[in-house]
Order: sequence, then structure tokens, then C-alpha cells
Amino acid sequence: MKSIVVLLDAFFRQALTAVMGDQGRQVDPVIRPAGDDRFGDYQSNVAMSLAKRLSAAPREVARRLVEALPPEALAMCEPPEIAGPGFINIRLRGEWMAARLDEVSAASANDRLGIEPAAEPQTVVVDYSGPNIAKQMHVGHLRSTIIGDSIARILEFEGHRVIRQNHVGDWGTQFGMLIAYLTEKLPAAAAAPSSVHIADLEAFYREANARAREDPEFHERARARVVALHNRDPETMRAWQYIVEESRRHYLPIYARLGVRLTREDERGESFYADRLEGTVAELRQRFGPGHAAPPDAPCRITVELSQGALCVFHTAPDGTPLFRNPEGEPFPLIIRKSDGAFLYATTDLAALKYRITELGADRVIYVTDARQCQHFEMVFATARAAGWTRRPGAAAETRLDHVPFGSILGEDRRPLKTRSGENVKLADLLDEAVNRAEALVRAAEADPARRRGFTDDEIRDVAEAVGIGAVKYADLSQNRQSDYVFSWDRMLALEGNTAPYLMYAYARIRSIHRRGGETADLSDGPVRIEQPAERALARQILRFAEIIEGAAAGLRINLLTDYLYELAGLFMKFYEQCPVLKAESDAARASRLRLCELTARTLRVGLDLLGIRSLERM
Ligand code: ARG
Repeated sequence: MKSIVVLLDAFFRQALTAVMGDQGRQVDPVIRPAGDDRFGDYQSNVAMSLAKRLSAAPREVARRLVEALPPEALAMCEPPEIAGPGFINIRLRGEWMAARLDEVSAASANDRLGIEPAAEPQTVVVDYSGPNIAKQMHVGHLRSTIIGDSIARILEFEGHRVIRQNHVGDWGTQFGMLIAYLTEKLPAAAAAPSSVHIADLEAFYREANARAREDPEFHERARARVVALHNRDPETMRAWQYIVEESRRHYLPIYARLGVRLTREDERGESFYADRLEGTVAELRQRFGPGHAAPPDAPCRITVELSQGALCVFHTAPDGTPLFRNPEGEPFPLIIRKSDGAFLYATTDLAALKYRITELGADRVIYVTDARQCQHFEMVFATARAAGWTRRPGAAAETRLDHVPFGSILGEDRRPLKTRSGENVKLADLLDEAVNRAEALVRAAEADPARRRGFTDDEIRDVAEAVGIGAVKYADLSQNRQSDYVFSWDRMLALEGNTAPYLMYAYARIRSIHRRGGETADLSDGPVRIEQPAERALARQILRFAEIIEGAAAGLRINLLTDYLYELAGLFMKFYEQCPVLKAESDAARASRLRLCELTARTLRVGLDLLGIRSLERM
């Protein structure tokens, strides 16, 4: 089934066409959830904006539109009311909502809650996580990793073909240094990959840096290693392989623990593009170097020029004004090759983007990185568009490029989160602490006769793992991603408020109602009947799930989903207080309410799964 917003949108477009002729189909009816329940469930504000065009008072336009709504619309909602200057207020019919919920078939492994997949599935590349090899992951990588994963899950749920890409930083001059140091310090490491730990690598890297500054000979050896690496010298490649392997041994388990669906196969690190950089640069230089003719209608033109020995891409608007400027106001180019011939982060991103569009067939490419990279991606995207890479032959539309920036995680002192000694917080340590804290809370509950569940030790650890990791993820995903947020253990682990434990608890609680319901009667969940206001509010919220997914996917804003789930759990709690379920007044009411319970639980479970958070049957 389609979301309510999509259905109403279609009905209103029909009405607009009836009133205005063909041009009405192009008008957006602006269907929104009503700001206030007293005015209905949804509203359309389109009448006000059409008044001039139709030379009629807005209320009159609204009246004509309401009259022109197709009969199906009136099976779905009460006759719409016109309010104030011309708002059209829409109130869903209880029977219609009940019938919709009855249509949702039983839960299956791939529970879609009756939501139709996208009519035109796209191939979407999602680039996220991207840790730097030979370094431990720190909190800085948390956001990209979990926001990206949730975006990938949501787009998959919508029915798109999602290709995850882990653009790990595994290439570049730093590896020359590291390899030079490693082969000198631990010649045996080349033969025994597991003998060097990621933490050692990090220390070596620091030592190698210091060494290179003091010892010109070492500096020279490091430089020679970079060249050897680029030439794929076997010994150098072996050392590089270990470093990459050891890094994987570090980050793959972190993904598993976080419930992040990135595997080794999703890794396309910078090294993957090393052989394509030369060609990418040559193409840009040939097509946009001095003397080329710019396509006349392009919204952005590029020229490729040498500037102080470096090869640069300059971007200009059709009238010749520069698109990017440095703080001094001068044109600011994207450098694609340094004067010493070395390629840069940007060169790799250009090669990667071309690969994703032409070889992976991407209709959309999404990059999840911190907000400091905004300008980098703006420039990369502008280059790709101007070069025509985004217009893939045979594709229905231009490839859409999205950068999804996010803010920083702050400590309680409102400065970027650091350990007490001022270092970056290691992600692995952070997750351990989350689980330890959650375990302490579960054990405290087990020690309290009023709250005890009688968990075994294994169960306690399992609950603690799910709650601890879920709390960290949820605290992050529930933020407006663009803002910084303050990391607070107490807040994220609280059983009250907009937290993972609260939602997980709501889910477990509904499951326990079902367990008890199943024990005392053989009544199967029955047709939904919507009578009480609390039933209505809950039913409407369940039916909104489809439009929330649409909104979250369109704006790549996961907090729309977390806010929704929080509201759903709250409405459920109210319903449960006001409407007896197992002791309902009639068998029909009991069956209907059990069904509402079941649908709520499924929505919570699917929603949490889209966040990559586990649901527990007992908690
Ligand atoms: N390794 C990069 C970093 O740590 C992130 C890579 C993001 N993806 C990309 N295609 N540039 O900042």
C-alpha cells in the first residue's frame, strides 16, 4: 500500500486537474500532517497560493477543490472542512484506517508492514565509514559509520539497490613511512601478519614521523618506499598488505558489534583507484585544458590549468564569475595533481565518482562525512557535473549527488569529545564502556525484586550488549545530524525519554502482553476496530510509518524516524493505560487491541532495525 500522503496527493492532483485543466497536474497540493489534531489529521494549503491564478477568493478555490475530489477520497476521509483563509482540513475515517491495518498481512522475515517498494528502484551508492588504515577507529568515525548504515538500510527498505562503499584511506605517502619503519624495526613482521597489532602500528606511525624529521636517510628510504608502493614492488606490497589486513582485523569486528552491514567486499579503498588517477587527470586536462570550447549551456564550466606547478580545476558560472573563492576572495581551485606529481584526496574522489557512475551504474551517490568536507564535495560534484559524468548514457535522469554532512560529538564541557588525558576516544573503548554501563543497570534491576526478570548470566550480557550499543547509536541517530551534540551516558541509557532503552523497553513490554495473551486464550488477533481516541491516535501513527520512511529517505534525515518511533511508543503507552487489552470489555475489543499491539511492536521492530538496533523479546 501507498502512504497516506501519497494517496492524498494523488486525490488532490485529480481535483486540481478537474478545476484547472491539465496545468493542475503540475501543482503541488502541499499535503502536510495537521499541526493540531483538532483540525484533523492532514491539511492542504494549496488554495491560498492559487487564488490569484484562478481570480477567486482562496476559500472559494478551496471549496471547488473539495467538491472536485474523487469519490475514493471520501471513502478515506470525512468531507474536508475549509478553515480560516482557505486551509483544507482532512480527517481520516476510522473505518478506513481500520481496514488499512487489516490489510497488513502477518509478519514475515522481511516485514514491510504492507508498504510498497519504490515503483522505480534506483541504484544508490552509499559511501560511509571510510576509516584510515593503520589507525584505530575513534569517535570521529562513529557518526559516518552509523548514519551511513542507517541511510543504506532505509533506502534498501524503500526497494532501491544499494551498493555500500567503504572508501578506506589505505594509500598515500604515510604508508611509505610506515613501511620503511616497519621493515627496519620488525623485518619479521612481513612474514607473520598477526604479530603487529593495530595499536603498535599507530605508535610506529608516530615514531616513523619523528624519525623522518630527524634522519634524512630514513626520510629518503621512506620516500623510496612510496615510489616502490606505487610501482607495486612485491616486498613493499607485502608489508602494505599486512598493514591493511591488521586494520581490517580491527575494524570489521567493530562493524559487527555495531550491527553495521559493511563487509570486506564493500571495501573500495583509495588504493583501488590508484591506477585510475593518471587517466582521470588526463581526461580532464584534455577536455578542459587551455583552448577547449566550453559547452554553452552548462550551469558550471571548468577549466584545467597549471598554477604554480600544480594542476588545478577552476569552476566558473556561465557569466564567468568563480564558483569557489578562498578567504581572500580569489578563485579557489580543486587541485588534482601537486607540483611534485603526487595525486591528492580530491583526485581519488574524482576517479571514484566516475567509477561509481559509469561502472557501478549509480543513479544516486551519497557521501556521509563530517561537515568539514562540505566544500571538498561541492567542488568534486561541480567538477563531475561539468565534465558530464553525471549524465550516464541510457540513464533516465542525471545521477544525483548528495553529501550528507554531520557535526561533532562533544564532551560535557562542550568541546570535541576527548579522553581525560586529551586523546581521541577510541571507538572500541567507547563501546566497551557502553556495554559495561548497560550491564551494571541490568544487574541492578535483577537485584531488585520488583524489577527482576530472572535472567541468566548469558542473558544479562546479551541484553547489556544490545542496550549499550543501541543507546550509543540511538543517541547519535536521533540528533539533527548537522548539529554538534553533547555525549551523555546518563541521558542515552535512561529508560525514559527519547532513548533506545525506552523504545526497546516498549517493544519488550508489548511482546510480554502477547505472551500473556497467548497463554490465557486462543483468540487470534482480530479485525481492528477504532473506537477510543487513544486507539485512533495509535492507529494513525502506525499508518504514518510509510510517509516517515519517504521523508527520511528524501532528506536523508534519520531523526525523522527516531522522533516518529518515540512518538509511537508514547502513544502506545497512552493507549495501554486507557484501553484494557487482555481484560477488554468484549472479545472483539480484545482481539482488535491485541492486533494494535502487534502492529505497534512490528513497527517498532522494523523501525529499530532500520537504525541497526536490535529489538529484545524480554528486557
Ligand atoms: N577517509 C576519509 C576520512 O577519514 C573519509 C572518506 C570519505 N569518502 C570519500 N569518498 N572521500 O576523512
